[in-house]
Amino acid sequence: MLSRPRSEAEKNYLIDAIDAFNRRLLIISPDFIILAANLTSREGHPENIIGRPCYEVIPGCSSPCVNCPANDALKTGKASLRYDQSYNFSDSMGMFCLFSYPIYRQDKLEALVMLDFDLPSLKNIEDRRIRSNAFLRNLIHSAVDGVIASDPTGKILIFNDAAAQVSGYSVAEVLNEITIRDVYPEGGAREVMRMLLSEEYGGVGKLISYHIDAKNKSGEIVPISLNASIVYENGKKVATIGFFHDRREEIRMQKVLEKTQVQLLQAEKMASLGKMAAGVAHQLNNPLSGIILFTKLVMEEYDLPQDALKDLDRVLYDANRAKDIVKELLKFSRQTSHEMKPLDVNDIISRTIFLLENQSIFHNIEIAKDLDMKLPSITGDAQQLNHVFMNTILNAADAMEGSGKLRLKSQFLSEAGMVRVEISDTGPGIPADVLPHIFEPFFTTKEQGKGTGLGLSIVYGIVESHGGSIRVESAPGEGATFIIELPAINGQQGGGKID
Ligand SMILES: Nc1ncnc2c1ncn2[C@@H]1O[C@H](COP(=O)(O)OP(=O)(O)OP(=O)(O)O)[C@@H](O)[C@H]1O
Ligand SMILES: [Mg+2]
Repeated sequence: MLSRPRSEAEKNYLIDAIDAFNRRLLIISPDFIILAANLTSREGHPENIIGRPCYEVIPGCSSPCVNCPANDALKTGKASLRYDQSYNFSDSMGMFCLFSYPIYRQDKLEALVMLDFDLPSLKNIEDRRIRSNAFLRNLIHSAVDGVIASDPTGKILIFNDAAAQVSGYSVAEVLNEITIRDVYPEGGAREVMRMLLSEEYGGVGKLISYHIDAKNKSGEIVPISLNASIVYENGKKVATIGFFHDRREEIRMQKVLEKTQVQLLQAEKMASLGKMAAGVAHQLNNPLSGIILFTKLVMEEYDLPQDALKDLDRVLYDANRAKDIVKELLKFSRQTSHEMKPLDVNDIISRTIFLLENQSIFHNIEIAKDLDMKLPSITGDAQQLNHVFMNTILNAADAMEGSGKLRLKSQFLSEAGMVRVEISDTGPGIPADVLPHIFEPFFTTKEQGKGTGLGLSIVYGIVESHGGSIRVESAPGEGATFIIELPAINGQQGGGKID
């Protein structure tokens, strides 16, 4: 209770303070008659509200409000608070609260102070919480990286769409059916935890850019790069969270790059070998011309017995053959710019066979030529087309491992106006899973160092640039047939010659 009387000035200040207060403050009698009101309570009421029932003035009712805290205050003699959104005189977005404080005079409850104020409504708080949760969930789910979080027992708490995509599991499956130990097999999860607890991998509680194998739903190992951290709450470990991405594409690219490097070295080696072969061929030309010339001279100038003449004939034959080979080799390795001119495909096939048939890999390969003598010419670059047949025929010989039958067939498809060449072998054929890849650069099934995997991709490029097509028909165990079609000049049938 107040021990000293208030001065007029203090009383005035108090009244001013109550008027400055931007909430409604009313003093009512126990029978709800307004005894005093601050300025805010008078807003919108130009008439005198003193002496009127509060329920008439504020909510505009004809009887006291059932839910008014004044009822409780009157009943209990103590301050009472009600908060309710059903107060129809609340104009705020929050939760409307009404306080009622009893005023005593000589221990008698004489009046009640009624004071209203707003609390932000719980619903608003809940809405905001839901919205921010949804935002966080969206953030996690739309992340490009996989996100996975688990509690200390290994139960997975968060698993986003990117993680689901890499793992093959649905989010629901992961949250209900598997643990972190299924994601990182063979002690991987324990190892991640060990590293997280160590100083060495980005500080305690952190693991940065760690390469680890994860296992997807079908049991396949997926290499990933993981950034992980321990989540603490009040100093206690409550979860670990990991952000990861699939490294398969990165590893594939790395391998392609490494392979390309090896191929480049190989190509360089092949180029210098080619140059060397051209040089050697060139140098052989002179002694070979000498052998031919002097053999002819000896045969003409001396009166030799028949047997010696026969032997020299053989020398001449072989020397001429060697000269032809040298000529072809030179033609083949010559670095000329591409020159498109009318060509006889049969001629190119025969030249390629001529160069190849004496190589040891062809010794036990029977070569059957079934060439259409009336093949029209095509427009093409002889050197490039040599490559096409050389690569395809060598592939066939490789597939047959040096023994079998190679069939070369040419024909004219008059309706399509195309020259078709079929190169068939009796090798093991091409398995269905290999077939779609054989024209890809660097695809090879040959052991390291044996094949570059470039052969057919180059062939494909050449055939395409000649306006033609190449495809393969093959069944395992039944050999392979490469079918090359090239446009004939004017789509006309001709009268080709054949070696
Ligand atoms: N006639 C064939 N029979 C069976 N498989 C074949 C045949 N021709 C090609 N292939 C398959 O296609 C793959 C790709 O052939 P490609 O010529 O592009 O490369 P490569 O022969 O392996 O190497 P290189 O670059 O040395 O030619 C081969 O590794 C082989 O698996
Ligand atoms: Mg090849």
